[in-house]
Amino acid sequence: MQILKPLLLLLLLTLFGAAAFVWSGVYYPGADRPHWPLTHALLQFTRERAIEHHAAAIALPANLNDPQLILKGAGQYAAMCTSCHLAPGMKDSELRPGLYPLPPNLSVVHVDPREAFWVIKHGIKMSAMPAWGPSHDDATIWSMVAFLQKLPEMTPAQYKAMVAKAPPDEDMAPMDGATMSAPGGHTHSGHAHAGD
Ligand code: HEC
Repeated sequence: MQILKPLLLLLLLTLFGAAAFVWSGVYYPGADRPHWPLTHALLQFTRERAIEHHAAAIALPANLNDPQLILKGAGQYAAMCTSCHLAPGMKDSELRPGLYPLPPNLSVVHVDPREAFWVIKHGIKMSAMPAWGPSHDDATIWSMVAFLQKLPEMTPAQYKAMVAKAPPDEDMAPMDGATMSAPGGHTHSGHAHAGD
């Protein structure tokens, strides 16, 4: 019992210290300075475990290899994702150098379909990855997942040809002029606005 008092005091001091740190405002919140390696490792591990956990029970649709679904996903991807995740033949975008964490280059990186579905639908807190669920139904999100399974093997020419054939991204029509028209536009010119 004698040990409880000093422990309690230590706990109070720690809480007080943490509160003073937050209140002081000295924490640097800018995206242009990375976390400490320990903070970064902890956040990354937490995120990876959480996505695995939440994605584990998702049932894969039977049509994930359907060419029409993949084609639809190509149009979605070209319209909404390349400014952050790049595409075959795309070196960089204006957005990427300033992003922290840096989005993975999905024209190179293979993603697990369940985890990709979960992340696309729900997004990732405190990162640039938006939740696309509020604006897209599950079938449309699966089309992007289906496309992502093929993307890393595609050459720039194959990618271009597929995006040119893809159905227009109707969901995005209202947003086109506002936010999504400029980034990465040069690599898939014409497509993103086909729905206008
Ligand atoms: C504004 C930038 C931005 C846009 C636009 C964006 N993402 Fe992301 N995305 C991110 C970031 C940042 C991460 C990584 C977050 C992290 O590491 O915590 C990410 C992660 C992902 C992942 C997880 C990859 C992995 O290795 O686990 C997938 C899949 C993904 N995005 C798909 C998409 C798709 C599909 C779209 C378009 C519908 C899209 N993203 C649009 C920024 C973006």
